[in-house]
Amino acid sequence: MEKKNEIVICLGSSCFARGNKATLKTIQKYIDDHHLREKVYFHGGHCFGRCAEGPTVTVNGKIFTGVDEYNILDILNSELSEY
Ligand code: FES
Repeated sequence: MEKKNEIVICLGSSCFARGNKATLKTIQKYIDDHHLREKVYFHGGHCFGRCAEGPTVTVNGKIFTGVDEYNILDILNSELSEY
């Protein structure tokens, strides 16, 4: 089955050092807790060129800035399509 959702977490040094290290773990846990491994393509990306507004994460092509390990949960809850 084709994965419906794509999450890309910026692993550029700025975002990674400023919080995406923890956010990565939170997203992974969310995917596991909701049994979404087959439905979500989650991977890391290079710098999105928005370091000043980071940490950044994209969900289905939409970029989110100022992401942290807490607000990512609201983002995932509202942005992931039906699964
Ligand atoms: S390091 Fe993440 S946008 Fe540049």
